[in-house]
Amino acid sequence: MIELRKITHDNFEAVLKLSITDEQKGNVDSSIYCLAKAYVKILNDEKPPLIFAICNNDEVIGYVDIGFFELAESAFLCEKYGDKSTYGLNRFMIDKKYQGKGFGKQAMIKVIDYIKSFPQGKADAVATSYWMVNEVARKLFASVGFVETGAIWDGQTGDNWNAERKDIEYAEVGARLGL
Ligand SMILES: CC(C)(COP(=O)(O)OP(=O)(O)OC[C@H]1O[C@@H](n2cnc3c(N)ncnc32)[C@H](O)[C@@H]1OP(=O)(O)O)[C@@H](O)C(=O)NCCC(=O)NCCS
Repeated sequence: MIELRKITHDNFEAVLKLSITDEQKGNVDSSIYCLAKAYVKILNDEKPPLIFAICNNDEVIGYVDIGFFELAESAFLCEKYGDKSTYGLNRFMIDKKYQGKGFGKQAMIKVIDYIKSFPQGKADAVATSYWMVNEVARKLFASVGFVETGAIWDGQTGDNWNAERKDIEYAEVGARLGL
């Protein structure tokens, strides 16, 4: 059974060992990076991200990093959908050994259920983004109800995407699920 579990002294090492394929490097930051970033946020009195181990029975098979964001009126999601705050799926991965078995989709359904408990406050939507060429992520998010927002940017610089560009491996697309 797929569950989201708190990161503890017992499962911490397994979370650090999670890995993706060489082709997927660049799709998502490592668990070490996410946990380090959370520590820096805590040190600076910012709301820490919600990071969980994804477990299948007792085995750690992935992790998720969720943030809560108050949006400015000029933010794209506020202008287009009227969203005042969102949960953001900052990072989500299933270890390469366990991919393609339906665990990602099951875990994402649990993540959405958890977000619906509004752990850091009420929000209008869940937002995420992925590389345009990441077909698996696109299918996964669409299968649980996310709709692409139409926003496309350069995932390296954050600049708006110019449709003439040919290097679409750097194009990042936004997707949203209304709550
Ligand atoms: C994206 C990721 C989380 C998907 O997890 P997963 O457990 O492999 O996905 P699932 O087995 O639940 O499959 C989810 C959907 O993708 C499809 N899919 C899975 N593997 C696929 C593949 N190799 N090619 C095409 N489609 C695939 C499935 O058919 C399913 O769609 P469906 O429900 O319409 O049938 C996982 O591949 C991963 O961690 N990738 C690296 C990190 C990443 O890209 N994270 C997302 C961006 S932040």
